[in-house]
Amino acid sequence: MRPIEGMSILVTGGGSGIGADCAKRFCEQGAKVTISGRRLEKLEQVQAEIGERCHIVQGDVTCDDDRKRMLQAALEHGDSRLDALINNAANMYRQPVDQYREEFLRDAFDTNVISAMMLSSAAIPYLEESAGAIVFIGSTHTKRAFPGASPYATTKAALEGLTKVMAAELGLRQIRVGCILPGAVSTELNLRAGLFSAEEANARYDAVAGLHALGRIGTGTEVAEGVEYLIRAEWVTGVALEVDGGIGLGVSHF
Ligand SMILES: NC(=O)c1ccc[n+]([C@@H]2O[C@H](COP(=O)([O-])OP(=O)(O)OC[C@H]3O[C@@H](n4cnc5c(N)ncnc54)[C@H](OP(=O)(O)O)[C@@H]3O)[C@@H](O)[C@H]2O)c1
Repeated sequence: MRPIEGMSILVTGGGSGIGADCAKRFCEQGAKVTISGRRLEKLEQVQAEIGERCHIVQGDVTCDDDRKRMLQAALEHGDSRLDALINNAANMYRQPVDQYREEFLRDAFDTNVISAMMLSSAAIPYLEESAGAIVFIGSTHTKRAFPGASPYATTKAALEGLTKVMAAELGLRQIRVGCILPGAVSTELNLRAGLFSAEEANARYDAVAGLHALGRIGTGTEVAEGVEYLIRAEWVTGVALEVDGGIGLGVSHF
């Protein structure tokens, strides 16, 4: 397996949650990591914690100019290299089926899917040079059906489909493509969507813990370990890897 040391890695949405934990884990192992996000103060907090191996670039993944700046920043920080692109930035989009609003659905797909497709496309020349990897962050929402969450679940299903075709298309150019399907991890995701208060979000995580075969929710670091595997494993491509404490099994004790 390839060592993380010396890699140049771009993590979108790295100012919090799973993205921040990926940045920490990869910098600890000697990578140069560039993190992006819209809120500068969140990026600065992560950078202050990690140190100079972590570089920040403020931007919105739905904006083409911002995506170009993210890529440029990662190349500059990484001595003109890019070894891995982690398409992690996303939002939670919940809306009941009988209340769909077209604008909301378009925003969901724009942010969670199309931005990642466009950034991946732009990164291909650099990943080809490094025989690098693209990782998408999917979700257990494609394994378990949560009523009300169809907009989010369908964006994550799109990423799984995309992973396979991209892997097939880019394999002979030595670019590997993978997708991680995390189970529940306590992050800002639900809070940022304005759907729940902190108390409600914590109550949901407590309730959902029992759906995992291992009886607990996971940590961002545990998800980062899965991302690390996909970046490092040189004969693995096109897979959707469940890093989910077994929630995707649909365990029932009844
Ligand atoms: N937490 C879970 O239980 C769970 C489970 C399965 C999958 N996931 C997935 O894991 C990934 C990370 O989520 P998380 O749980 O760590 O939540 P999080 O802490 O909310 O992280 C998401 C990050 O994406 C950034 N982001 C959102 N929209 C953006 C945009 N338009 N442009 C740039 N950055 C944007 C946010 O930063 P700004 O708002 O500052 O831009 C935020 O830092 C997501 O793909 C999520 O769907 C999470």
